[in-house]
Amino acid sequence: MSQTAITETGLPLLKTELPGPRAKEILELDARYVSPSYSRPFPLVVASGRGAIVEDVDGNQFLDFSAGIAVVSTGHCHPAVVEAIQRQAAELIHMSGTDFYYPSMVRLAEKLAPLMPGPAPKKFYYGNSGTEAVEAAMKLSRYSTGRDKFIAFLGAFHGRTLGALSLTASKPVQRRGFGPLLPGVFHIPYPNCYRCPYNLAPKSCSMECARVIEDRLFKTTLPAEETAAIFVEPIQGESGYVVPRKEFFDELQAIARRHGILIVADEVQSGCGRTGKMWASEHFGLVPDIMTMAKGIASGMPLGVMAADASLMTWGPGSHASTFGGNPVSLAAALVTVELLQMALIENAASVGAYMLERMADWPRRLRLAGDVRGKGLMIGIELVRDKETREPAKQERDRLVEEAFRRGLLVLGAGESSIRLSPPLIITRDQADFALGVLEDCLR
Ligand SMILES: Cc1ncc(COP(=O)(O)O)c(C=O)c1O
Repeated sequence: MSQTAITETGLPLLKTELPGPRAKEILELDARYVSPSYSRPFPLVVASGRGAIVEDVDGNQFLDFSAGIAVVSTGHCHPAVVEAIQRQAAELIHMSGTDFYYPSMVRLAEKLAPLMPGPAPKKFYYGNSGTEAVEAAMKLSRYSTGRDKFIAFLGAFHGRTLGALSLTASKPVQRRGFGPLLPGVFHIPYPNCYRCPYNLAPKSCSMECARVIEDRLFKTTLPAEETAAIFVEPIQGESGYVVPRKEFFDELQAIARRHGILIVADEVQSGCGRTGKMWASEHFGLVPDIMTMAKGIASGMPLGVMAADASLMTWGPGSHASTFGGNPVSLAAALVTVELLQMALIENAASVGAYMLERMADWPRRLRLAGDVRGKGLMIGIELVRDKETREPAKQERDRLVEEAFRRGLLVLGAGESSIRLSPPLIITRDQADFALGVLEDCLR
């Protein structure tokens, strides 16, 4: 797709039935050659992308409210990102930070350090993906505390490598057949107020979701002094963009402090400006000891980063590294991405996100299937229910809605049992937001 091929309005343009003839060819070959473990919700075969629009192999253009699962934060192929990638690729593609120095490893760390929550000086470790950042956080928290156990939350997604998968508790299919996983991981319910795990109302709630750690876990199965870290997503992603109350994080931090336990904020999905702040942690006064980031950090180039208080980085040379981690081309993309986020895109995420949430505020009252609408910035979840009283999840209806939106030129993904997640590139305009909400409202009706 050349830039001129994009519709003037930045809205979808469908030319063929879906999937079109070229897409059908690829789908057939995919079924023959590619691992069936990927879960594609609809038959989109992408050829190119620009801004918030992607074009398929048959020339159909879609408005992308998935951003490649919350990855292309600056939009598809942002010219400044493309330029930085091309320039870097012509200079140096690889050198391996495992064994050699190169400037961009330092430059990105320098840029990120002042943006991290809390006053403690930070150090940065580079990998290739979210799951690698989480693995690094697991290893560092064990190494630096001398403890081996972890607390994580039901509904969490932290990745699919065996360590991170042991923390993940999102869907049985992600674990089935892969055990045994890491021992010593204890899962507790996430603070999902729409489906309170303790059947409480906000008025009667005394943050049981955090207090269960001391009140139950530490009194029954988990010795506090053996617990290295609590892994928590500030906004739970794969379970449906669930937003906790600030008081939960106050309580969680107090408990962690009392027992010398580290808090690892997994900002792989919620970070990098998506929520209208650089980190979702900032919405809740959460100051983690370790933070993991990936997805939006490099606009689509593979990069995972683990940031930790410098005082925790006690591991020595050879203890942890990755051949490709912190690849110079990915780092070049990340440096420009962070600049673009700071210049305008975090602000745009905050304002367009607030506009969308306001427009959707009465959906649960007006639309039969809309149970809950929640989010921060451009991380917005819509939970579909069959019945407003019983809150029975409307899974099939959600799946149909995702498919129907695709047929109307809008790309959205499901999350959790019956939610839709909106995670567009942070460049979207109000017109694009209006179009997307129009399609979703229409489908919901
Ligand atoms: C919160 C969170 N952590 C970790 C991961 C794993 O990231 P990756 O798929 O890059 O390994 C994801 C991916 O969705 C995520 O949402």
